[in-house]
Amino acid sequence: MKIIASNFKTNHTRQSTNEFINDINKFLKDENIKNDIYIFPPSTALDNFDTVSNLCIGTQNAFYVKDGPYTGEIGHSHLDEFDIKTILIGHSERRHILDETQKTVSLKFNYFKALGYKIIYCVGEPLDIKNQGLSQTLGYIQEQFDGIDLSYKDMIVAYEPVWAIGTGVSCGLDDIATIHKKLAKKTTAPLLYGGSVKLDNIKDIINIPNVDGVLIGTASWHKDDFKKIIENCI
Ligand code: 13P
Repeated sequence: MKIIASNFKTNHTRQSTNEFINDINKFLKDENIKNDIYIFPPSTALDNFDTVSNLCIGTQNAFYVKDGPYTGEIGHSHLDEFDIKTILIGHSERRHILDETQKTVSLKFNYFKALGYKIIYCVGEPLDIKNQGLSQTLGYIQEQFDGIDLSYKDMIVAYEPVWAIGTGVSCGLDDIATIHKKLAKKTTAPLLYGGSVKLDNIKDIINIPNVDGVLIGTASWHKDDFKKIIENCI
């Protein structure tokens, strides 16, 4: 059983998300696909979707509140409305572009953990750290676990090296295997790899030991591509 997750990032409208999810849902049903599929649409496209049990819709982000005076943020009351109980936390775009600190990330983690959410928790090193070698990379990732309960039962950890995200250059298979082996020693959570996963590398990546699935951006935004990727993980 593999996990295949699509992160829409700032792509797809409410209408195209609806079409995408309904189409993927029908595909999973028609093809009797058993893998666990996650889709993370933008917040404006969240809704009550009628899906098969192995298709889960999550949020890319939320603030660690129920509601209140936090302009531009959504809280968990907005997720409750659609029965959304799955969240991405720690994505590198939020850390490095939106300047979320480890403190903020851990506050989010602990807030949504207390609510029993399924948390896809993302870690990964930028290029300058990778270039300093494996021990620097592992040290950097270790700091991204500060304040994070690695024994939380509803957690999935996604290793997404920053330099591999959206670049078309995926991490080497041996390097993925090395990092995932280290992660598997820290946690029993399922482990995903993300960073330029696409049709031509999905089969190799999904079969690496300690890789329980993938978190995909670019290559998952067209439903036909996403369906082909899902087919390649059967
Ligand atoms: P890409 O697949 O576009 O590299 O993005 C990966 C990612 O950031 C998924 O969260």
